[in-house]
Amino acid sequence: MRVLVTGGAGYIGSHVCKALAAAGMEPVTLDNLSQGTAKAVKWGRLIEGDVADTDLVAESLRQSEAEAVMHFASSASVAESVQDPAAYYRNNVSGTLSLLDAMRRTGVRRIVFSSTSAIYGETRHLPIPEEAPAAPLSPYARSKLMVEAILADEAAAHGLTYLALRYFNAAGADPEGETGDQRRTATHLIPMAFKALSGKPNVLRSSAMTTPPPMAPASATMSMSATSPRAISWPSTI
Ligand SMILES: NC(=O)c1ccc[n+]([C@@H]2O[C@H](COP(=O)([O-])OP(=O)(O)OC[C@H]3O[C@@H](n4cnc5c(N)ncnc54)[C@H](O)[C@@H]3O)[C@@H](O)[C@H]2O)c1
Repeated sequence: MRVLVTGGAGYIGSHVCKALAAAGMEPVTLDNLSQGTAKAVKWGRLIEGDVADTDLVAESLRQSEAEAVMHFASSASVAESVQDPAAYYRNNVSGTLSLLDAMRRTGVRRIVFSSTSAIYGETRHLPIPEEAPAAPLSPYARSKLMVEAILADEAAAHGLTYLALRYFNAAGADPEGETGDQRRTATHLIPMAFKALSGKPNVLRSSAMTTPPPMAPASATMSMSATSPRAISWPSTI
């Protein structure tokens, strides 16, 4: 199966491309390299461009003969989203609408969407059950929840088949060292925690410092990589 991976030059997307290739699938990355790097695109080719460019995405889907999309391209900093919400709604919500237009135009009907556990906000129930009510606290999290709603509506209207992965702070890197977290700006909890531990001052100011997270994040990364290729080959479950 050929899969268009948006954001495939980024941290999670590049691991997923590797997992897809290992599962015998053919990933093609579409990435504007705003955060990711071309060096991380080692499994399948790179189309440099923006998900908001509907014509380019449609042409990429046609040329690559993709049967499914895995959508990791987004802006992903909670703090930045509070400072510039419009940029987040534009890239994450409007960008996804353009991608969905291109998919409809080319008859590609399957999509795995990289959502986030941040849609749950602060919940007292740990581990968080999937059906816990959504209470997003930032424009970033709200943009992801909006996309989930759009996907549900598109599924009802046009028979789109979708899966939304709501995972936590991803951690770790490819055990073979072929890819890793190479973002231009590190804003996620775990890289910041390591920076703080290495003595850099004022890199982490959060109640998370006094409330260690449960062990779920690391295993969530592993299971995300392991299950994503299978998720797109099980249309009846998504
Ligand atoms: N890293 C985490 O802990 C985590 C947790 C939950 C959800 N997520 C979500 O998973 C996805 C991937 O996260 P990541 O940590 O790999 O981030 P990342 O920044 O490493 O990867 C995102 C990639 O998307 C690209 N991109 C951004 N906007 C684009 C656009 N308009 N068109 C084309 N490419 C674009 C960037 O250049 C980058 O390569 C994101 O959607 C993020 O919100 C990440």
